[in-house]
Amino acid sequence: MGKVSIRSVDTSNCRVLLRVDFNVPLHVASDGKRSVADDTRIRAAIPTLDRIVEGGGRAVLLSHLGRPKGSPDPAYSLAPVAQHLATLVNYPVRFLSSSTGEDVERAVDSLLAGSVLLLENTRFHEGETSNDPTLAAAWAGLADIYVNDAFGTAHRAHASTEGVAHLVDMAAMGFLLETEVAYLDQLRDEPKRPFVAVIGGAKVSDKIGIIESLLDSVDALLIGGAMAYTFLRALGVQTGTSLIEKDRIDLAAALLTRAGDKLILPTDHIVASDFSNASPHRTVSGNISADEMGLDIGPETIQTYQQILHRAGTIVWNGPMGVFEMPNFAKGTVAIAKALSVATENGALTVVGGGDSVAAVRQAGLESRVSHVSTGGGAMLEFLQGKTLPGIAALTDDD
Ligand code: 3PG
Repeated sequence: MGKVSIRSVDTSNCRVLLRVDFNVPLHVASDGKRSVADDTRIRAAIPTLDRIVEGGGRAVLLSHLGRPKGSPDPAYSLAPVAQHLATLVNYPVRFLSSSTGEDVERAVDSLLAGSVLLLENTRFHEGETSNDPTLAAAWAGLADIYVNDAFGTAHRAHASTEGVAHLVDMAAMGFLLETEVAYLDQLRDEPKRPFVAVIGGAKVSDKIGIIESLLDSVDALLIGGAMAYTFLRALGVQTGTSLIEKDRIDLAAALLTRAGDKLILPTDHIVASDFSNASPHRTVSGNISADEMGLDIGPETIQTYQQILHRAGTIVWNGPMGVFEMPNFAKGTVAIAKALSVATENGALTVVGGGDSVAAVRQAGLESRVSHVSTGGGAMLEFLQGKTLPGIAALTDDD
């Protein structure tokens, strides 16, 4: 893979600065108490943490959470994450409410081998997202070894993901980063055919890069979610009050021309007059009437997509097929999750990334029945577009 791996690094008694992606959803109780609502990303970092701790290292963890505005904001504190992490591992986890300064330096110096210190949200510093070299140097000063296991943030050139890696003697990949890259490399470089991509979500504009680059490598690209209506409008289909991007209709038309029959659109839809789960809904084929909006793919489309997916050799899926958070419009997304599990049973390599698609796989209880559930949404899309991920590029070459 070209980069040094944690598996070949001796962490014994070293201060290991580990960048993780603990950007996880939080549940806020009626009394304001915050707790972790989905710990997938926390669990995903544990193999690397175990390796450091069991190797006698002293683990100092950095992560961001949400998008605070460059200054401390209690709503984005990592304190609940530290509490949660402590329930998942059998070594001590300490939390500090800052990530730089003398308190942090003292705490790191006194950290015992085999224990873990989680520092406060990196984005409480303005210099994190601007990749400020002074901030990166402060973090590098805490480390004998830097390890990046934050795949979900590898597409960001931030002080804790990129800047710091240049300022330490050794910057290695964690196990999670390694696994993610290994799966995505297979998709990008040698997909078993037929190679099918399922791309959903609200906007063509968000997915234009990935659609353009996948068109060169896939055998079929199945479109779902509201972005399908922009494509259908480009074909002259009536889309009623469905969410469309008027300024992207020409772009959608150009993509359709370029894609030929590779790009496959829904032929029927679940429609309702209001954007609400309570709104009465029905199935329509072809045109949508002026006072209705499409909120999910219909049964005929589900069947077509399933048939294509069941025969695939490789599948990548990013983005929901409908308004997945409303149960009446979640069937299409859940059906895709099921189709991926069948394809996996049939021998396909199946990779899912992005919030709603991952949630659908999990809700359907199918997480262990697809080949790989990526912890990265944006990072996965950028990787598959062939872009260099700065958080990986900055790591020490393995030569
Ligand atoms: C993510 O959730 O995609 C990563 O944690 C990156 O977060 P960001 O989009 O706020 O940089």
